[in-house]
Amino acid sequence: MTQRLKDKVAVITGAASGIGRATALRFLEEGASVVATDVNQGALGTLVEEIGDSGQVEAIAADVTRRADTEGVVEKAVTRFGRLDILVNSAGITPRTVDPSADFEARWDAVMAVNAKGTFLMCHAAVEAMRRNDGNGGAIVNVASIMGLVGYPTSLPFSDGFTAYPHSKGAVVQLTRDMGVRLAQEGIRINAVCPGFVYTALTENVIDDPEVHETMRKLHALGRMGQPEEIANVIAFLASDEASFVAAAVWPVDGGYTAA
Ligand code: NAI
Repeated sequence: MTQRLKDKVAVITGAASGIGRATALRFLEEGASVVATDVNQGALGTLVEEIGDSGQVEAIAADVTRRADTEGVVEKAVTRFGRLDILVNSAGITPRTVDPSADFEARWDAVMAVNAKGTFLMCHAAVEAMRRNDGNGGAIVNVASIMGLVGYPTSLPFSDGFTAYPHSKGAVVQLTRDMGVRLAQEGIRINAVCPGFVYTALTENVIDDPEVHETMRKLHALGRMGQPEEIANVIAFLASDEASFVAAAVWPVDGGYTAA
């Protein structure tokens, strides 16, 4: 099999779990050198143990809400592997992840900080490095959500009346289009995927309720939720040179959810 990301250097946020983890594994298969970063140092360690010492992966604990961390990750990636070609922003949370005792304003701020600001800070740091690639540019793939395209379904319960999640993912969609348009002429392609509901740690507590699981499943035209690897497949394509004419684009990867 041709390795689509051979000799590319990629930073992947949220790499310790779910879609980010599946993407890291897929990128390694495709020949990339991967800087796997996550705020969860323990889970990051488990991932690296699993991968083994191939010399192709570097794990860095970092919080995407902190500017110094995001700049540090990019700097370390360049120091270790010589440059940066690809960034995948998969780090994300929902209001369920936030301390339940926090009030609605604090929960909104917390979700926006990781999903929207974290994506922006990582893009900002990565673009600075990609501009140094002798005109070869780079590729950024943001993991937005169907909730960046449509409102949260009224058929599903959520905890706090109004959830910041769709608001934050709408910001990621527009950030992708706006930065994507601005940077395309520099050869930096910024695109987003909008996954439907996927089986990861983010959804596991919700689908514990069989009725909720059934409702969620049926919202997708394919009649099922997705697997992290099915999102990673599309991310790998968008990050690769095969997607050379895809820029500032927002791709649903949602089993037909948003078309229904
Ligand atoms: P996950 O919970 O399995 O993985 C998210 C990772 O992000 C975790 O390892 C977590 O430690 C990390 N993270 C959280 N806050 C961070 C921070 N401040 N700095 C660095 N890392 C941080 O969740 P999943 O499902 O893999 O989510 C990945 C992305 O996909 C998220 O942006 C999520 O919003 C998005 N998404 C997920 C869907 C789903 O149904 N699972 C659907 C649509 C989008």
